Amino acid sequence: MTQQASAADLAASSLTVTYGQVRALAGASVDIPSGQSVAIMGPSGSGKTTLLHCLAGIRVPDSGEVRLGGNLVSAMSDAARSRLRRQMLGFVFQDGQLIPELSARENVALPLMLNGTGRHQALRSADGWLDRLGIGHAARRRPGEMSGGQAQRVAVARALVHNPQVVFADEPTGALDQATGHEVMQLLTTTTRMTGTTLVVVTHDTNVAGWCERLVELRDAMIHSDRTLAETR
Ligand SMILES: Nc1ncnc2c1ncn2[C@@H]1O[C@H](COP(=O)(O)OP(=O)(O)OP(=O)(O)O)[C@@H](O)[C@H]1O
Ligand SMILES: [Mg+2]
Repeated sequence: MTQQASAADLAASSLTVTYGQVRALAGASVDIPSGQSVAIMGPSGSGKTTLLHCLAGIRVPDSGEVRLGGNLVSAMSDAARSRLRRQMLGFVFQDGQLIPELSARENVALPLMLNGTGRHQALRSADGWLDRLGIGHAARRRPGEMSGGQAQRVAVARALVHNPQVVFADEPTGALDQATGHEVMQLLTTTTRMTGTTLVVVTHDTNVAGWCERLVELRDAMIHSDRTLAETR
């Protein structure tokens, strides 16, 4: 696997987001060094997804800043943020969000093709990732022909195939049974560690958080605690 060419620290300072009367974030700050794996936990409605969306440039905070390496993400245009997401970031969501009409390998190849890689080369890279994640045999199946765990492995491959600086995952194991979720999380943490990719994962599951190096807990739109977890692996 290739190493990242350059370090890219992720830094958020004093983020606020309000939806009408609802304060979703009330001054959240977090600095994530390149390569770290961070779990974000907290009660439902505490602001986890909102924080993840701000960090990933999906949403612009009402105030505060998000930086990724030299990029002031929170001040970029929509087009520049989409380009940054496409080129530098990977995403895994709860239900995979694979394109149902495409095979596993085509789903995984898509981020590369969107960044200009030719179809043949992109499919070769996709096959490599599917093999690495133990689902090479399902490369030609469509998402509807796979189990939830297999589909989530495809989603992990798709998040990693373009060698992103940061992978964001919002409850990536939320729709899986515990054993399958554990396997997917193990894959996500070991592969991001091997490639030096930063991992930010929102979860309700303390076991999932246990796979990360650091735990940030949100409560009532604010960071309640932020600590490094002891290395147990
Ligand atoms: N698009 C929206 N419009 C209005 N309110 C929203 C919107 N998105 C989130 N909120 C509100 O902002 C607050 C934080 O939401 P967020 O989705 O970040 O919480 P969460 O911690 O991810 O919750 P969950 O664990 O249920 O996914 C909640 O009170 C939520 O109802
Ligand atoms: Mg959420």
